[in-house]
Amino acid sequence: MSFQNILVETRGRVGLITLNRPKAMNALNDQVVDEMWEALDHFEADEGIGAIVITGNEKAFAAGADIGAMASFSHMDAYKGNYITRNWERVKTCRKPVIAAVAGFALGGGCELAMMCDMIIAADNAKFGQPEIKLGILPGSGGTQRLPRAIGKAKTMDMCLTARLMGAEEAERSGLVARVVPTGKLLDEALAVATEIANFSLPVVMMIKESVNRAFEGSLNEGLLFERRVFHAAFGLDDQKEGMAAFVEKRKPDFKHR
Ligand code: CAA
Repeated sequence: MSFQNILVETRGRVGLITLNRPKAMNALNDQVVDEMWEALDHFEADEGIGAIVITGNEKAFAAGADIGAMASFSHMDAYKGNYITRNWERVKTCRKPVIAAVAGFALGGGCELAMMCDMIIAADNAKFGQPEIKLGILPGSGGTQRLPRAIGKAKTMDMCLTARLMGAEEAERSGLVARVVPTGKLLDEALAVATEIANFSLPVVMMIKESVNRAFEGSLNEGLLFERRVFHAAFGLDDQKEGMAAFVEKRKPDFKHR
């Protein structure tokens, strides 16, 4: 794999994708997004990888879609080209868990990318926002849909209608962010969490991701039924036998299917 806009490496059982357009605050264009999805394809197919982290740098996770690249778009250009949003749901369709490690600005498409991940770990300097209204547009990669599911209508309206940025502490309090850590420790913490997940049984991890995502897509009854079916299916796994035997025998489980 050779990439121009991202750095890709493995840290043990974790695949790490680092957005790497620092001069443009990691603004997202079609090339960046295509490269990210290619790296995700690669990590998803790699049996040695159990979890993936997407991060940026200390100043910016990503400051949104590349404004210069789309400034002169007509409706036809935007619609036909499906700018940056083509295959946008790739993080969601990735069956392995994806953690966003966010420092600095996560704005517009950057905030939307973070929200598409399964969990956001934020540095204490992180700032989230959907400031598209200032550009005469609206969020186009899930902001008006995923933000209210995370933080509710009132705060979503506030952020989308006024372009107010939300700091890490408020984001954690509001449910957007799972954990806040000192900026200098962000990557270590995100990798530690990803490693912890990657050492559990991968089929179970995948079942949990699929089940939790169901909560955002259908009725409560359908979600509960899905969860129950998957819960029962887990009893067909060797790893369930190992996990429960290890508990009974007071030892650490040694999961086969990682
Ligand atoms: N697109 C393209 N370039 C961007 C960018 C973006 N979204 N955000 C920042 N940059 C570039 C700047 O143009 C600047 O480049 P030059 O040095 O060549 O001038 C460089 O990054 C540094 O930016 P600033 O000088 O502005 O840095 P700052 O610290 O003063 O401000 C910022 C940082 C608050 C992030 C500010 O750059 C900013 O407001 N950026 C735009 C954020 C935004 O509106 N995002 C939404 C985009 S639309 C979208 O994402 C739609 C969607 O839903 C898919």
